[in-house]
Amino acid sequence: MQKLVFIKTFGCQMNERDSEIMSQSLSAYGYVEGLELENADLVILNTCSIRAKAEQKVMSLLGALRKLKIQRPEIKICVAGCVAQQEGEQLLQRMPHIDLIIGTQHIYTIGHLLESLESSDKAIIKTGMDETFAIPKFISESKKLALGDLSTPAFRKFVTIMQGCNNYCSYCVVPYTRGREISRKIKDIIDEVKVLLESGIKEITLLGQNVNSYGRTNQVTESGLPCSFPDLLYRIAEIPGLQRLRFTTSNPKDLSDELIRCFKDISILCPQFHLPVQSGSDPILRRMNRKYTVQNYLEKVESLLHSRPDLALTTDIIVGFPGETDADFQATMDLLEKIRFHGSFSFKYSDRPGTSSNVLPDKVDEGVKSKRLAIFQSRQDQISLERNREYVGTARSVMIEAIRPGAFQGRTGTNHIVHIEEDAALMPGNLLDVFIVHAGQHSLKGETRN
Ligand code: 5AD
Ligand code: SF4
Repeated sequence: MQKLVFIKTFGCQMNERDSEIMSQSLSAYGYVEGLELENADLVILNTCSIRAKAEQKVMSLLGALRKLKIQRPEIKICVAGCVAQQEGEQLLQRMPHIDLIIGTQHIYTIGHLLESLESSDKAIIKTGMDETFAIPKFISESKKLALGDLSTPAFRKFVTIMQGCNNYCSYCVVPYTRGREISRKIKDIIDEVKVLLESGIKEITLLGQNVNSYGRTNQVTESGLPCSFPDLLYRIAEIPGLQRLRFTTSNPKDLSDELIRCFKDISILCPQFHLPVQSGSDPILRRMNRKYTVQNYLEKVESLLHSRPDLALTTDIIVGFPGETDADFQATMDLLEKIRFHGSFSFKYSDRPGTSSNVLPDKVDEGVKSKRLAIFQSRQDQISLERNREYVGTARSVMIEAIRPGAFQGRTGTNHIVHIEEDAALMPGNLLDVFIVHAGQHSLKGETRN
């Protein structure tokens, strides 16, 4: 009998991809994904613990689920991802209505774990971490990806190329929640990309916490020969049928000249780069354990723009890191003025358990953090709008998506959303030249002028 699973995903693209994997694994166990929590037989919260706020959101939803479990005791409640990994048993003590706690390396076995739950009168917790863990071959998607479904952007997909992180930036929980850095075998990645292309996918985004160090910590080729991230990009770009390639995320310290050259050499590599800088102040970068200076960062940006002048650069910023002075914050603002990022994600520093910055002195007052964040975001908004206006009057290659029958939008190579004002029917999935006629804060407007 068919059962309904409701999945709520918090956090990053890595989690989005993990949720997809869980949904697809569960289809072999008779589950279909539903959009409503109320009728679900199984609820999965795929969680994020990067900042305290993300974790609080999970906790409040879990609190609310207690009522549902009382009303319908047969419903199964599963917590997966980073909060599950970090809290494990403690989470169950606080929230005894949970049935299954799955850490980041165990999402692939969710179907099997649910079966075990049938014959268990206790909750199951799976949070072990294996240093030699390998992301399983996972290519059973083709049948599920119906291109007829216009509500989802069926032409773009994520492919995970590595898991974990070895960098230990002092504020970051990722090395603890996702474990040691492990790269996937190149063959598994390529097989997965091929399956996606066969089912009509045209754009792939490669995912990892720090893609630049792909292939460094474990063997990824059958021959035993090394394979770097640029090598992987060249290999993937050769696969017939792929129209666009993107990747995220990169730590600036590992951004190599070879990778910069890829932007010149690989035509399907989109002119978009997310390069988190975190702060514009060297003393803060040092205390963040980022291992680059503002000058290093500026030089890398300059070479990137030299290699691909139309590149749109985005970044992540943390304000109010312990010890951040007004002068340190001003240095971040100065960097924003210098680079004029196309966009950024900015956050107030949040103490995370187990990280080394947690114990640093001179924590910045919450009010000061909020003020700095507002100043940064308001200037970034202006710059993003000005950057967007630079596109007005130019033609951009846009991959068409249907938002509903007869209404279209798309994305430029720079990853800007373009709303298309058009009466004619467009073919979703096609790459078309779109003439940009208007720029807003978060998106562009364009026409195809056929
Ligand atoms: N506090 C605030 N922001 C954080 N990030 C990571 N850890 C923290 C933290 N403890 C931000 C960084 C990272 C992004 C994914 O989240 O900017 O690049
Ligand atoms: Fe966290 Fe730093 Fe690793 Fe990024 S590179 S996941 S910020 S530890």
